[in-house]
Amino acid sequence: MIALDVPSLDAADSLLGRLDGTLTGCKIGSQLFTAAGPAAIETARKRGFRVFLDLKFHDIPNTVGLAVREATRLGVFMLNIHASGGLAMACAAADAATKAAGDFAIPRPLCLGVTVLTSLDRRALQREVGVPTSVESHVLHLAALAREAGLDGCVASPQEISPLRLAMGPRWVIVTPGIRWEKAAETPGASRPDDQVRVATPRRALAAGADYLVVGRPISAASDPAKAAAAIVAELSAP
Ligand code: C5P
Repeated sequence: MIALDVPSLDAADSLLGRLDGTLTGCKIGSQLFTAAGPAAIETARKRGFRVFLDLKFHDIPNTVGLAVREATRLGVFMLNIHASGGLAMACAAADAATKAAGDFAIPRPLCLGVTVLTSLDRRALQREVGVPTSVESHVLHLAALAREAGLDGCVASPQEISPLRLAMGPRWVIVTPGIRWEKAAETPGASRPDDQVRVATPRRALAAGADYLVVGRPISAASDPAKAAAAIVAELSAP
């Protein structure tokens, strides 16, 4: 899925137009949704893309349930909340998606819990967020909580996919951002080009057991986004 981190409908439509035929899914996050609202989803749908609405809801259970109801009504195929919002919040999200899908007679979207943002490393998790365990054990803890609440899967960095797959089984949906080409980016302590910390190449993420990869800047900031997307697809399809 291409991360549509762009400021306007025109920019989204133009990027999707270049990727039409190579990718089939896109992720609409807080930048585009704040700028353009539900029209962004319509723009993607007109181009034949299915939409992951990445608004990472994190609020009291009632508010999150109401937001998930509206997101479901928009007809997205996937949406997410922050699993760190707690069990009651995650339950409210899962229940709202099921109820809204029934009320509006549409498919229930896949509901995912965001575990630990791919931009955080162990030091930031411990010193800034105040979580004293390792990133991996906190990711596994939040995934288990998400499952207990009735969510379908989680968002996690490439580096936690293998332990997640082992712990959660084959039906748990794993979505992974933090995809980078740079080999150096996989080496702890190596200098990195942007804010993503826990990264991997597309092939390595797929081999570890990811179901969906979310790729932003490696495609959108490339001089030829269509070529960059095709290179990723080719890498994933290679024997
Ligand atoms: O440009 P880049 O490939 O880093 O884009 C990754 C996308 O995935 C961004 O839109 C970011 O908001 C999103 N994301 C993330 N980490 C998460 C959840 C979503 O990077 N845990």
